[in-house]
Amino acid sequence: MIVASTREQLAAARKDLRGRVAVVMTMGALHEGHLELVRQARTQADSVIVTIFVNPLQFGANEDLDKYPRTLEQDLALIGDLTDVVFTPAPDVVYPTEALVRVSAGALGDVFEGASRPGHFDGVLTVVLKLMHLTQPDVALFGEKDAQQLAAIRRMVADLDVPVTVLGVPTVREPDGLALSSRNRYLSQEERETALLLSKALQTRDVRAGRALFDGSSATLDYLERVDSTTFAAAPDGDLLVIAAKVGTTRLIDNLKDAP
Ligand code: PAF
Repeated sequence: MIVASTREQLAAARKDLRGRVAVVMTMGALHEGHLELVRQARTQADSVIVTIFVNPLQFGANEDLDKYPRTLEQDLALIGDLTDVVFTPAPDVVYPTEALVRVSAGALGDVFEGASRPGHFDGVLTVVLKLMHLTQPDVALFGEKDAQQLAAIRRMVADLDVPVTVLGVPTVREPDGLALSSRNRYLSQEERETALLLSKALQTRDVRAGRALFDGSSATLDYLERVDSTTFAAAPDGDLLVIAAKVGTTRLIDNLKDAP
């Protein structure tokens, strides 16, 4: 595994990669969900690049940018055998100048996660496009847990003719149903129990019944809605149930797609 932290190091490592190249973009604090992305990447390509970068552009002023877990040594130990190149740039490597021009997520950026986190998806799309340019992959893999992010990335790639195939990888869950997330490590034991309400609400497959589970609980439901999984327009006959809730100070999201 080559660890590159500058653009020059990445370009040199990229030049030596053979065959089809896959990229898995992460913000570090890696868990089994990320490892599954990397394993799937291996099945799709001859070479794999993992990026580890906590992207300031996608965090709002009152969000957890400063306290977002940074566990680089552990991350490298976890993916060492699975990847060819790890790109771990500092913020000024990715943004040598102020990011004046950004990718807009359009209407997809204004609803659900975008409504709660204004500007979030513009920040995500901007860094994803930059990392695609820097790593030049044939294929990029993203987790389906961040369903709105995946929809926005698919739409960006289509609308801007980015020559990269985007693949979604199913959410990895704990045996009791909790979707894996780097933010789960913020949860106390009691909050972790409460967090199960998200997957339980989805399992009802019914918006009203799911919302009712939150009555009297300590978690604050932000939304539980049925949407169209490509546009994220709310639709009673949509194919995806999406949920977000705050458990303690931790905001968690999850979703469940109808069987095709
Ligand atoms: O899903 C994430 O971890 C991030 O949003 C991504 C795609 C790496 C962009 O910073």
